[in-house]
Amino acid sequence: MQELINLAGMTRCIVLCLCLLNIAKPAWADNVTWPAATQPPLDTAIEAQIDELLARMTLPEKVGQMVQGEINHLNPATAAEYNLGSVLNGGGSWPQKQPLIGAQAWRELAQAFHDASMSQANGRTPIPILWGTDAVHGHNNLVGATLFPHNIGLGAANNPALMHAIGRITALETAATGIPWTFAPTLAVARDDRWGRTYESYAEDHQIVGRLGAALIDGLQGAGINQPQHIIATAKHFVADGGTTRGQDQGDTRISEATLKTRHASVYYQALAAGAQVVMASFSSWNGEKVHGSSYLLNDVLKQQMGFTGFVLGDWNGHQQVVGCNVTSCPAAINAGIDMMMVPHHWQEFISNTVNAVLAGKISRSRVDDAVRRILRVKLAAGLFDLDFSRLPATVLIGSPAHRAVAREAARQSLVLLKNDAGLLPLKKHQHFLVTGNGAADLSRQTGGWTVTWQGTENPPTHYAGATSIRQGIIDAVEHRGGVVHTNPKITAANRPDLAIVVFGEPPYTEGQGDVSHLHYHKHDPESLALLKQLKATGLPVVAVFLSGRPMVIDKELAIADAFIAAWLPGSEGGAIADALFADAGFNFSGQLAFSWPGTGNTGPVNLEDDVYAPLFPVGYGLRYPGGPSRSADNLKVNLAKLYKPSSACSAANC
Ligand code: BGC
Ligand code: BGC
Repeated sequence: MQELINLAGMTRCIVLCLCLLNIAKPAWADNVTWPAATQPPLDTAIEAQIDELLARMTLPEKVGQMVQGEINHLNPATAAEYNLGSVLNGGGSWPQKQPLIGAQAWRELAQAFHDASMSQANGRTPIPILWGTDAVHGHNNLVGATLFPHNIGLGAANNPALMHAIGRITALETAATGIPWTFAPTLAVARDDRWGRTYESYAEDHQIVGRLGAALIDGLQGAGINQPQHIIATAKHFVADGGTTRGQDQGDTRISEATLKTRHASVYYQALAAGAQVVMASFSSWNGEKVHGSSYLLNDVLKQQMGFTGFVLGDWNGHQQVVGCNVTSCPAAINAGIDMMMVPHHWQEFISNTVNAVLAGKISRSRVDDAVRRILRVKLAAGLFDLDFSRLPATVLIGSPAHRAVAREAARQSLVLLKNDAGLLPLKKHQHFLVTGNGAADLSRQTGGWTVTWQGTENPPTHYAGATSIRQGIIDAVEHRGGVVHTNPKITAANRPDLAIVVFGEPPYTEGQGDVSHLHYHKHDPESLALLKQLKATGLPVVAVFLSGRPMVIDKELAIADAFIAAWLPGSEGGAIADALFADAGFNFSGQLAFSWPGTGNTGPVNLEDDVYAPLFPVGYGLRYPGGPSRSADNLKVNLAKLYKPSSACSAANC
């Protein structure tokens, strides 16, 4: 009896708590339990400092902390005046709107923001401002940074040691510009490759996504985010951004809670265990409800049940899609559990509307305190209150040869050999090669979206400083070895190479701009198919190198080519393709598909768990050169260690 009374009391208490937290459990949530995530314990000294700060801060100061504006829509003085908690530079946004401004100017702007935020003028409480950037394949908004393959290629490489090295280098190059925070990794488990963000996903298999994401976080953050050569990671986009119907960007993921948990949310357990302290909410919906407004997913699942102690960041004006909200006001998203709102342009109105909403009782003061507590926790853990810009890594490290060597290694490991008839590859260098196709010397196709500009389009050659095109990589490899590279695809008796290398693929895109209604490659790019046919008709052997942000139906192109390499979006180091073609430095292919590759026979999305699984190439597929060295993960670890000094051996200035 006593037990029953206790139970009734407990139930009442739970119901009451849920009401207080404003948790509306959606009808489709089906009693899945979410165990607590493993996370570092709270630091009592930090918690005490937070208590002290909260006691001193005014309501406008607190609300200011909860808002993030965009660097070209404010300046250090206004940011400080409004106690802004954070700034970001959006995709294709640079200090003074100048792409070529140089790393030193980034660093100076970061210092100006920091110094202004730490001023005590007019009795304000100094709180360091936090600058975040989309360093999603290296510090990619910065001209001259090392550009790694996009995630889809890294999924094919499937090497945690490599991810760790990429994280460390991205952290160094980002920190060198004074920015302590990246909006990466994307932990999307992309299930319909028509999605424009498929290339930001490591794999359709959540196990690969979780493992690689955790390794990247570890590399970015190091042993502690308070070290000047490390930066804060963001696990994004919570949750099920990769599961939307028809692969529609910002669309609706219609699945059960059990599938949501195992397929799309399990990766967050790994990210939290790796130390991620920021989670970005997804633009997408779960069964019709926007995640930005889902108290169940944010308050209940992520914060209560999983016990997440860091802060939840909204995505770019993501709150305006929540029922009852607009771009300048959204109590519903704050009540649903978003702690910091990304309001790039209208941050000022958003702050005043939010202060008014608190005064009107639409947002409780305890909710504000909870959000600010979480934000301060991350800022204190990251050591931002004592940030010393002179201890940050030097800007000369940006795009350094050692960093590019790792990017080249990453690109090599990401390549997947789909076909190699009659052992055409590897090639001998002392031949005449035609190197043609729309991607042969096109760094925008090679590096993809999120490269200097948001879409990766409209980049003049100067934006790719330090990068090497695939054709240039081949020239560099063969020109001193008796080889000749031709560029004219018109084959005549006088201009007849020994074979043709056709590099072709998708133009760059980002987010919804990359959504497509179908994956039939030749319908998107009939010219490349025509080129392959024309070259094949001359009797030349043809090697195809395909640049894409996703697997596409390439049956026709594949049938023509004698050898076919899926090269994804390999980044700035085009020399990696030559390494593979000529099997340089003991190269052998090690990349394996992390996405099922569809063929003409597949009418809808193809994924590992399908009842009838019949892709053209399954997950795990990837040919090797016979007799060549096979690269074990351990070997790779050793190779990478040679390329990069571990943190114990380097001080802020020399690492
Ligand atoms: C994207 C995020 C990104 C943010 C800031 C949004 O549109 O969905 O992934 O971090 O913009 O650029
Ligand atoms: C920004 C991106 C952002 C996007 C969202 C762009 O203008 O540059 O960073 O992700 O808008 O729609």
